Amino acid sequence: VKTGVLISGRGSNMSALIEAARHEAFPAEVALVLSDKPAAAGLAAARAAGIDAAGLDARGFAGKPAFEAAMTAALAAAEVELVCLAGFMRILSPAFVTRWRGRILNIHPSLLPDLRGLDTHERALMEGRAEHGCTVHFVTADLDAGPIVAQARVPVLPGDDAARLAARVLAEEHRIYPQALAAVAEAVRAARP
Ligand code: GRF
Repeated sequence: VKTGVLISGRGSNMSALIEAARHEAFPAEVALVLSDKPAAAGLAAARAAGIDAAGLDARGFAGKPAFEAAMTAALAAAEVELVCLAGFMRILSPAFVTRWRGRILNIHPSLLPDLRGLDTHERALMEGRAEHGCTVHFVTADLDAGPIVAQARVPVLPGDDAARLAARVLAEEHRIYPQALAAVAEAVRAARP
């Protein structure tokens, strides 16, 4: 199942998906990486891995509909059927989300529905949580609120700061995102006529 990955930054989750998809038995292939930031480090990493990658500078478009139309056109040209948001730091319009309903995933660094939004590691520490983690979910028009596909928990340890906690969570992100993509790609494949 051809998959497009949308990023804004370093793209470590993207790299985990690309790495997993290299294996022949993996049901998804990363066909295209798009970034709303042309300078994103992840674009270079994708190209180095031999994946088509393009930066679409969101500021260069007349507005969100034009920017999203350009993304849709690029995804369609690559025959993408599934979209993975991987550190994509832009809120997508309801129209875009509806276009991809049931075929667009996001990874969020918290145990949703806990801690939606930004700065989740800082907030988990500040609120004195004993546990933290990450969630892969379908994207809906409500931010960080769609149906959950996979979740992983990590302990918050004495002496943790946001960076240490983030690193522990990120290792789990890299493990569960490929698993979740595989499960959804299998379902997409099974639903084909
Ligand atoms: C990850 O923690 C992801 O959960 C969050 O943004 C970060 C992106 O990291 N949405 P990377 O670009 O995948 O390395």
